[in-house]
Amino acid sequence: MTTSDAGTATDAGPDVPGLLAGLTLEEKASLCSGSDFWHTQAVERLDIPAVMMTDGPHGLRKQTGAADHVGLGSSVPATCFPPAVALGSSFDADLVEQVGRALGAEARAEGVAVLLGPGINIKRSPLCGRNFEYLSEDPLVSGILGAALVRGIQSAGVGACVKHYAANNQETDRLRVSAEVDERTLREIYLAGFERVVTEARPWTVMCSYNKVNGTYASEHPWLLTDVLRTEWGFDGVVVSDWGAVNDRVAGLRAGLELEMPASGGVTDAEIVAAVRAGELDEAVVDRATERLLTLLGRALPAVRAGGAVNVAAHHTLARDAAADCAVLLKNEPVTVPGDATRAVPLLPLDPAAAGTVAVIGEFARTPRYQGAGSSQVTPTRLNDAWTAVRETLGHRAVFAAGFGVDDESADDPALHAEAVAAARDADTVVLFLGLPPSAESEGYDREHILLPATQTELLAAVAEVNPRVVVVLSNGSVVQVSDWDRHAAAILEGWLLGQAGGDAITDLLFGRANPSGRLAETIPLRLEDSPAHLNFPGECGVVRYGEGVFVGYRGYDARRQEVSYPFGHGLSYTSFAYSDLEVTVEDGGEHLAAVSVTVTNTGDRAGKEVVQVYVSAPAATVARPARELKAFRKIALGPGESRRVDLALTHRDLSYFHPQLRRWVLEGGRFTVAVGASSRDLRASADITVDVPRPVPPLTDDSTLDEWLAHPVAGSLLDDLIVATGPSKLTDPGMRRMLGNFPLVRLTSFPNMPFSRADVAELRARAGRRS
Ligand code: BGC
Repeated sequence: MTTSDAGTATDAGPDVPGLLAGLTLEEKASLCSGSDFWHTQAVERLDIPAVMMTDGPHGLRKQTGAADHVGLGSSVPATCFPPAVALGSSFDADLVEQVGRALGAEARAEGVAVLLGPGINIKRSPLCGRNFEYLSEDPLVSGILGAALVRGIQSAGVGACVKHYAANNQETDRLRVSAEVDERTLREIYLAGFERVVTEARPWTVMCSYNKVNGTYASEHPWLLTDVLRTEWGFDGVVVSDWGAVNDRVAGLRAGLELEMPASGGVTDAEIVAAVRAGELDEAVVDRATERLLTLLGRALPAVRAGGAVNVAAHHTLARDAAADCAVLLKNEPVTVPGDATRAVPLLPLDPAAAGTVAVIGEFARTPRYQGAGSSQVTPTRLNDAWTAVRETLGHRAVFAAGFGVDDESADDPALHAEAVAAARDADTVVLFLGLPPSAESEGYDREHILLPATQTELLAAVAEVNPRVVVVLSNGSVVQVSDWDRHAAAILEGWLLGQAGGDAITDLLFGRANPSGRLAETIPLRLEDSPAHLNFPGECGVVRYGEGVFVGYRGYDARRQEVSYPFGHGLSYTSFAYSDLEVTVEDGGEHLAAVSVTVTNTGDRAGKEVVQVYVSAPAATVARPARELKAFRKIALGPGESRRVDLALTHRDLSYFHPQLRRWVLEGGRFTVAVGASSRDLRASADITVDVPRPVPPLTDDSTLDEWLAHPVAGSLLDDLIVATGPSKLTDPGMRRMLGNFPLVRLTSFPNMPFSRADVAELRARAGRRS
């Protein structure tokens, strides 16, 4: 470890109240911004050291020397674990926590106090250039796996930094765009993952995003940074700005942004001092931020000082095992086996002894794409490729043909194409590596389409014409359209970006040394235009409207009953699983609302892992709700023939929605369907439960309509009595009553022959208020 970052603070850690009392206003303000690109400020006079915070989510990117911020400059070698796009597909909190522990250990060994990850933004559109850095289109998956990463990282005594808070779901205009999102959608979709991570894993820091949320910069948003994050969720750490996200430093500090990164060259520190001196900023706000920053220092210094060692080989093995658990087997159809035209079996796994000759085609097999571009890019400790690994398995029975170059989307080399088709013709089996060119997806810009380069899909079609035994292995950080070429491949393995050991992991999967267990954490649509966010992405003139509301990802595809290529939660295995004996019991008065219990059996002949998914469908509610939502999941390993009872719990919150008017979570009673299955569209068993709670009652206002009055549990009967007592009127006529139902009651009072006056309405409201 490097002790230079630790400065000379006393071994007992900072005496926060003492230091706070001893610091000048200028020194306190200086602590609120960085000293350079990656370090906080030191105050030498009081032995307050600077500490380092650095990227990133799937590996340590510690830059020494001049920093360039976007990964172009070198960084110290670190294990490149599978990026979030892959980890999300593992659906495995234990595995992800293990990766987090390894990340924490590497940060600690390098004297890094805070690791800038995980990124848990929701994949709102397949076009987001940074989707490879995010976990899922679903907040439960993002929240559970994000919390696992935080727990892992922080177990090493290193702080995690959950980012980018909030509603940062695109790269286009990311430093200015205003995400216009209604509160219900924010709460249910975009904040829910952050809420889980903050409340369950207690991260030391949260990074606010660049963008505005409903017109206010996230970096100076009091509601986001203080009301929700601290007051509601109990966050007790430090909010750090995304690098360069500060717009108005004083407004930011007031709203709850403690640390501006990177350095502002003292400019914004001086603004803070000037605001206090001018009486525009209460010094107590600066004190509060300083106290939190010193507390962070106190948390981080022990590990920074102690350092540690890294077992590079063990971390590489973890990266390999993790990668194998992340790849998703999308398709695996039977094809005839070489030398026996009468027998057809699923193409994968390949039996090394019986696979005959294998043509490995596609430059990605030799030059792997294993991480995305931008601030998360790390320098791996090792890197292996699938071509080398296949050759090690098959020896001279494997041949390679590049087929195309990976760098340029339009690269089309007829000689490479012809060589690949010839290799395919001569081989018993083809493994074709297709993927997105590195420049197709990156931090900083969004994609414009989700297609693979035509050169690649044309090569696939040509290869399939000469050989029906084609496995496609994909390398991409965000979803690609498969519907236009799917029919040419008997098997498809979605390899995402799998980190430094991805080549070995893919080969393990191809030859059955590992069994695929990844599941899609994002839907693969038939075409981009089907995406629920499509018409509202990426916005224009500085504004993006989240018009699809809560219907993000599968919630949107299901609501519109759209066919998709592969649904959320999907992923095949080399074995099969059966579900039986589902029991769902409502736990009256218990900690949870319902207990879900189901038996899962491995019905095949090899060990495998299944992701048991629990989806809940709500009854007709006051607000529109998705057809089903993932509310619990668990990944389990089962040997051949083995059965296990899996128990999962549903909380009150799991069945609730965020009421836009009442501005709180509401559980609306009725019949809920709880379904378990292997994907959002492969539900194997379901049970109904009835939840008996009163309907939510929004308060009556001047705008409340006749219908709302009549539905009110107290005012409804009072009004009804009045209507009936006054004798026949427009409101005793069913047709008229229906027609006038959406009139605010008060306005009806000015209509002729109404059975109540304005004074009656006021009186009813007062009586209803007294009785409810
Ligand atoms: C990114 C962050 C990253 C930071 C530091 C920003 O551009 O949005 O995710 O942690 O740079 O590299």
